[in-house]
Amino acid sequence: MRSAVRENHREDVAGRANVEDTPELLGYYDELERLEAGALWTVANKIEPWQPKSTSVPVLWRYRDLRDHVLRSLDLVTPEKAGRRVIYLNNPGRRDVAAAVGWLYSGLQVMRPGEVASAHAHSASALRLIMEGAGAYTIVDGHKMTLGANDFVLTPNGTWHEHGVAADGSDCIWQDGLDIPLVNALEANFYAVHPDMQQGVGHPVDDVAQLWGNPGLRPTTGDWSKAYSPLLKYEWAPTYEALCRVAKASDGSPFDGILMNYVNPATGGPVMQTIGAAMQLLRPGERTKAHRHTGSFIYQVAKGSGHSIIDGRRFDWQERDIFCVPSWAWHEHANASASEDACLFSFNDLPVMQALGLYREEAFGDNGGQQPLAA
Ligand SMILES: [Fe+2]
Ligand SMILES: [Fe+2]
Repeated sequence: MRSAVRENHREDVAGRANVEDTPELLGYYDELERLEAGALWTVANKIEPWQPKSTSVPVLWRYRDLRDHVLRSLDLVTPEKAGRRVIYLNNPGRRDVAAAVGWLYSGLQVMRPGEVASAHAHSASALRLIMEGAGAYTIVDGHKMTLGANDFVLTPNGTWHEHGVAADGSDCIWQDGLDIPLVNALEANFYAVHPDMQQGVGHPVDDVAQLWGNPGLRPTTGDWSKAYSPLLKYEWAPTYEALCRVAKASDGSPFDGILMNYVNPATGGPVMQTIGAAMQLLRPGERTKAHRHTGSFIYQVAKGSGHSIIDGRRFDWQERDIFCVPSWAWHEHANASASEDACLFSFNDLPVMQALGLYREEAFGDNGGQQPLAA
């Protein structure tokens, strides 16, 4: 029996598939389908687009809209039952894979003082940016790190890790970022709960920052052969100071202002194999030019307010708002203040794009480098 509707993605362009349906061909396609096969020319133009076609849409998640809902989960579920008390960000174009954009997952997690989540490990790589609260900590393979607002911490692929809040702290909210959709797409995801539920702390608290967090200095005892950064925690104060110092010495990028990548101090490369991260500073009144590139990005506003224009749509943001830029979407950023800096934290899948030779970038050439707003 013939299919009711058969896809045909014809293009009247030399070198592209352009075969008209005929009764004979439609019968032929049906016969192929019964053999779990198909004629490439019916789908070639769809599966090989001229340029990337993201199914993700640009989204701004306002913190003032989400915060009360995140806090409400404190009363609705326990970390013991929920595993992790997280409200995840669900891109309308990526609901089938629970992605915030592209192959990246993100969520807002909340814990009460005195709560400890169970230790676990997974193949997905993960990061956290602390949004609010006091007393948060993360333990990664026996290294305990204390965390405050805008501190950035890694829980890489395969490490035992757990999160908690000190008993004398306050309710803590942070953003999680993971490559779960990517690792699932690659069908390579494993998950394990620590046999003792909690792990011991085997090193002085905050030892990784003391050992690896010194600018331009590498410890002679600092042998490191793992594929992720030994500096598992990147503190906000020195990060912001570095941005301010660079702003005195450089005009920065026309597309990003002053942008500093978080790096692995042992290699200078990205913090983890699949996820890169950066903090950028937009000077008072700064408005960047538009560009686009492969790779998916999730931003969190670490400081200040402003707007971004993504594929012609304007998104106004303020501190703690989160937004995404899909792969190959035009984007530009502006600081709303004439007197204060604005800072954007972001994480991305650029290490994957670069490792696989898929990174490409293009400037928006028209209109002085800035996008006209869509009607
Ligand atoms: Fe985890
Ligand atoms: Fe960009």
